[in-house]
Order: sequence, then C-alpha cells, then structure tokens
Amino acid sequence: MAGRGGQQDMKQLRVGVIGLGYFGTRHARIYAQHAAAELVAVCDRNADAASAVAKATGAESCTDMTALLARPDIEAVSICLPDRLHEEAAIAAARAGKAILLEKPMAHDAPTARRIAAAIEECGARLMVGHILRFDPRYVQVYEAAAPERLGQPIHLRAKRNGIRSTARRLGPASSILFYMGVHDVDAMQWIARSRISRVYAQKREVLGTGNEDALYAVVNFENGAIGSIDYSWAWPDGLMNGYRAALEIVGTRAAAYLDCTDQGFYTVLDSGTTGGDTHLWPEINGRITGDLADELDHFVTATRAGTPYLQPWREAFDAIPVLDALALSARTGQPVEVER
Ligand SMILES: NC(=O)c1ccc[n+]([C@@H]2O[C@H](COP(=O)([O-])OP(=O)(O)OC[C@H]3O[C@@H](n4cnc5c(N)ncnc54)[C@H](O)[C@@H]3O)[C@@H](O)[C@H]2O)c1
Repeated sequence: MAGRGGQQDMKQLRVGVIGLGYFGTRHARIYAQHAAAELVAVCDRNADAASAVAKATGAESCTDMTALLARPDIEAVSICLPDRLHEEAAIAAARAGKAILLEKPMAHDAPTARRIAAAIEECGARLMVGHILRFDPRYVQVYEAAAPERLGQPIHLRAKRNGIRSTARRLGPASSILFYMGVHDVDAMQWIARSRISRVYAQKREVLGTGNEDALYAVVNFENGAIGSIDYSWAWPDGLMNGYRAALEIVGTRAAAYLDCTDQGFYTVLDSGTTGGDTHLWPEINGRITGDLADELDHFVTATRAGTPYLQPWREAFDAIPVLDALALSARTGQPVEVER
C-alpha cells in the first residue's frame, strides 16, 4: 500500500488492534494504509464488528484478545476498548511483551492507572497513551509559544471542550465527561503550563438524563502558582457544527497564546442550513485517514521500530488521572480537593 515516504527499507511493524468501535476502526484503517506497518489481526468481542474490519483491511479477525496477545508475530497493539476496560488489556499486553498504544485516558481512576504503571515497569514494556492533542498543530504551537523564554511565567490558563448530547447518550455510564473529553484538556493544560494541577474546585449539572454529566466547570491551581478554568459540556444540541467546540488560552508575564478549534475552515451550505466537517482530527482525504490521529499512529510506528522514546513519556499521561479523580470528587462533594499524587 502507498504510505509515508522512506520507510519501506526497514521491516514493517506487525500490529494488532483490540476494540473495533468508533476509534479502533480508525486505528485499524490507518495501520492498514501505513507503509511501515502490517495490520496482522484485529479483535472485538462482537464477531460481526471484527469480521467487517478484517474484511476491509485484509487483517485476520478474532473475538478474544488473549488469543491476539498470545501471537508471537504481533509486536505492537493499539488498545481501543471502553475507558473502564483499559486495565486488563494493558496489563496483559505488557506481560505479552507488546509495544502498546493505549487510547486515552490511561485509566478511569488513579488506582487503576497505578496498577497499569506497575505492570509496565515490571515488564519493561513500551507504552504510549493516545493523547492526540500532542499531535495537533494548534496545540503544539501553543505549547511552543508558551516556552518560558517566550511566555515568561504562566499567570492563567483556560480550557474549553464542549460536545453534543448524543455522544453522552451513546456512551452512557460506560464513560464520563472527564474520561472521554476532560482528560484531553487536563493533559494539555499541564503540558502547556509546564506544571501539574495541585488543587481543583468543580461543579457539575445533570439534567438531560443522558446517563452522563451535562456540564462540569472547575477552577484549578497549578504547582507553579498559575490559576486555570475548565469548561466541559456534553449538553449541546446535536446540530452543533462539527459536533464540538474546543479552545485553550494561556497568558504569561511576557506574552500569551490561544487557539480556537470551533472554526474548522470548511462548510457546506444547503437550503436546510450550514454544516461543517473535520479538517484536523481524522478527516478522510483522497481515500486515506489523515490529520492528528494518522500523525499519532505514524509516530507510534516510527518510534517503536526505531526503539526511540515516544514523544510523550507515559508518566505525563499518568499525571492527568489523579486530577480527574480530584475533579470528580470535588464535583460530587462541592468542596475544593487537593490532587493526591
Ligand atoms: N483520542 C480521541 O480523540 C478519542 C476519540 C474517541 C475515542 N477515544 C478512546 O478510544 C477508546 C474507545 O472508544 P470508542 O468510542 O471507540 O468506544 P466504542 O464503544 O465505540 O468501542 C469499543 C469497542 O470495544 C469492544 N469491546 C468491549 N469489550 C471488549 C473485549 N473484552 N474484548 C474485545 N472487544 C471489546 C466493543 O464491542 C466495541 O466495539 C476509549 O478509551 C476512548 O476514550 C479517543
């Protein structure tokens, strides 16, 4: 298959994908189109989902992840299971000696993340967590603009991620606004501020009956003294253009930087109204999935084959999880909560 240039001379990375829902299907397609990867097998407990992806990509299909992980010819796996099921698969993959791309969040709570971390360390496994914003040109450029020599000291940050109510309904209690969306911004804020969140004060609302939070707002403190605000919503009507609104800003003693993902720069206009489309995350262009997700998987394939470190050390991905726990506790109790590290 056609792929990214200059990578055909080394042996292809032999990969498997576990969990073939909304996101795993995209992982599988991207590996199948990548010149330096061979998608060997895909797995979903739903046999129809597994055979559909296998048929579309030319991979073998299975319904039991233990069987996929037992294959010695598979060197690396993407784990794209629901958030609460990351532990068993990540620990089994570490024990099986696979390089692991684990979808975000690393885990749905800090005790689980600690058990995964212990297995990774014990097995000496390679782990990358799928923090896609680390590959988004808008976030990476804000990160660079926030370098201390350019921005000075961070004074305040603001992050927003708002989505549509049908996503909250689709995921139901299997997920939460914090695991599914919030972890992106907690990771991005800590990365861009070059400092961890130490204290949070959150409030939430649940009125739509989707099985999830409708909104969660929080004020946060960073170890370096900066203050931040977080604005999460899953309450927007489904007609919201592009299905989400996200933004981030940081203001420092010398300069400031901000981004706004609301405008994707592409629209179609019908008599019934105007709609947009994804131009950054995983748009399909000329028959290929491109954008941030393709760049993330390209990095995973390239760094795994080369034996070089992943762009984001997994400990930084781990650092977001105790913040999610603190946000959930604060929203539940109505009290400020110190982040337990
Ligand atoms: N980076 C991003 O922007 C982004 C976007 C979407 C999802 N995600 C992450 O990807 C992961 C998957 O999310 P999704 O939206 O694709 O979920 P999903 O519910 O659409 O898909 C999950 C799949 O896992 C399968 N599954 C469940 N238990 C299994 C088991 N024991 N063995 C094999 N298969 C099993 C289900 O049948 C389903 O097909 C989550 O961690 C989510 O947070 C990340």
